[in-house]
Amino acid sequence: MCGIVGYIGYREAQPILLESLKKLEYRGYDSCGIAILGSVARNDGLEGVPANRIQLCKDVGRVVDFEKTIPKIQGGTGIGHTRWATHGKVSAANAHPHTDCGCKIAVVHNGIIENFQKLREALIKEGHLFTSETDTEVIAHLVEKYYRGNLVEAVSRALADVTGTYAIVVLAEGHKEIVVAKQESPLIIGIGDKENFVASDVSAVLDYTDRVIYLEDGDIGVVSDRDITITNNGQKVNRDAQIVLWSAQEAQKAGYEHFMLKEIHEQPKAVENTLRGHISFIDPMARLDMGKMGVLKDILMVACGTSYHAALIGEYILGKLCHVPIRVKTASEFNHYEMALDKTWVLGITQSGETNDTLRALKKAKLLGCPTMAITNVQGSSITRIADQVFYTQSGPEIGVAATKTFTAQLATLYLLALSLAPIDILDIREYKKLIGEMKSLPSKIHQVLDGEERIAKHGRGLAKFDNAFFIGRGVSYPVAMEGALKLKEISYIHAEAYPAGELKHGPFALLRSNTPVVAIAARDDTYEAMITSIKEIKARGPQVIAIAEEGDEDIGQFVDVVIPIPRIDPLLSPFLNSVALQLLAYYAAKERGCPIDLPANLAKSVTVP
Ligand code: AGP
Repeated sequence: MCGIVGYIGYREAQPILLESLKKLEYRGYDSCGIAILGSVARNDGLEGVPANRIQLCKDVGRVVDFEKTIPKIQGGTGIGHTRWATHGKVSAANAHPHTDCGCKIAVVHNGIIENFQKLREALIKEGHLFTSETDTEVIAHLVEKYYRGNLVEAVSRALADVTGTYAIVVLAEGHKEIVVAKQESPLIIGIGDKENFVASDVSAVLDYTDRVIYLEDGDIGVVSDRDITITNNGQKVNRDAQIVLWSAQEAQKAGYEHFMLKEIHEQPKAVENTLRGHISFIDPMARLDMGKMGVLKDILMVACGTSYHAALIGEYILGKLCHVPIRVKTASEFNHYEMALDKTWVLGITQSGETNDTLRALKKAKLLGCPTMAITNVQGSSITRIADQVFYTQSGPEIGVAATKTFTAQLATLYLLALSLAPIDILDIREYKKLIGEMKSLPSKIHQVLDGEERIAKHGRGLAKFDNAFFIGRGVSYPVAMEGALKLKEISYIHAEAYPAGELKHGPFALLRSNTPVVAIAARDDTYEAMITSIKEIKARGPQVIAIAEEGDEDIGQFVDVVIPIPRIDPLLSPFLNSVALQLLAYYAAKERGCPIDLPANLAKSVTVP
């Protein structure tokens, strides 16, 4: 979380930093700030200051408001930050950049300095004056402490004192270069022509360049307008530039009111692109019977949030089609568990490829000798450098904090995996071909769900007046219900809980009231009858029930208040379609409540802290 940027080149840094920060606000938007080596322009009525001093502006709130309040600063070297608060409240003082005592060194940071308290106390004893409650400020003072005219040396010495995670950009008066460093938090350098860019991720630099260097842990770089020098452990290293496959256009709203809505509508493409190049290559006769080959004993999936829900659906599908023992753990919990892992294949699922808990989980699995694979959407992201194998979902950039198209693309990947591992005696050729055919129809069936948007919107708006909601499902639809509840709560702030339908009577029934709507995912599989029973039990207690059900289901309408019809598909594939309907339901509930849909309170897209 937190987005950091840097610019050095022949253009004015200020507009570039501000525009880049807007692109990174999904990483945090509590406060923002910039520091530019230059001078305040005199034509705005403000008093000018000598050139090439650090000009620091920072405040709470969004970049779009911040930019209206700050003076025009002239200068071609600068750094910027958009914050998701970890240490210290949301305040202008705690906003980055942070500076040394004399405001001659400025630092932006993403990560957590674990030993900051001790360092801070020692620095205060040495006479340093602190102005914020943040962990970051110690870096500025440490660089000041070690600075003897060589900035990169001072940064290296400062970083030797800190423990924790960081991506930093350091700017100092008297220097024609900026210094960057990375440890467990993402950082890229965008390569321009007589200019260079630094950012937490590529979306911030796509307007300016498609050539980037992905820094590795331990890298310290010196970036000037024409040169980039990187060292690691004191040795000069060569980091090849890579061409970014995303375009700047893909990261625009393209006329949609919110990124989330655009991304919901991009799901047919995201699923199609993820399946493309894989689905036709799965030879039904050449499926890998990993179990029999003794290669694979079991699978463990680790992930967080929406990616965790994808993993749970994957658990169901892999279990059903492959009969391989499968476990799923939220990555943060896996890190606290001692699990028996013996040749366990560990899959880390993360759209951003930067979720700290998932990265840690995969590193732990590697240390335990497990083969690992990452499923991610972001080229060059940190997880791609940890896992033995990487499978990229092809969703394009996802900007809205609520994951949508990356989720369905993750599902597509997990279904592909299940199909390629499914032994012939569990899934015979005929069933196999039928399932492949159904998967190929997914993009058009998702389009059909989207065609019903207005109807779903009406029910979404109807949900907006409630403060609580339940989501229920059974079998493969239970994690779908979990995902529906997560979507609703994160963007509309309606308290939503998901339960396996059969569990409600073991406690949560006590909460059922007429003002607690229940969204029931009623897939037409072997759970259907049991779901109808659950719905009847719920209705007997007063709540309104909205069912997501297969079109043409004549029965369910008698028991529920609202039916949202979903195109017919093999029930195993119903999570794709039902999830899209639930995303729209949540979106329109949030819109009706006037919520900031793309940037929900207290959340960041990429959770790079433990
Ligand atoms: C999804 O809507 C959430 N914003 C969040 O739960 C997210 O899925 C989670 O933080 C994991 O992110 P990742 O896929 O990038 O690892």
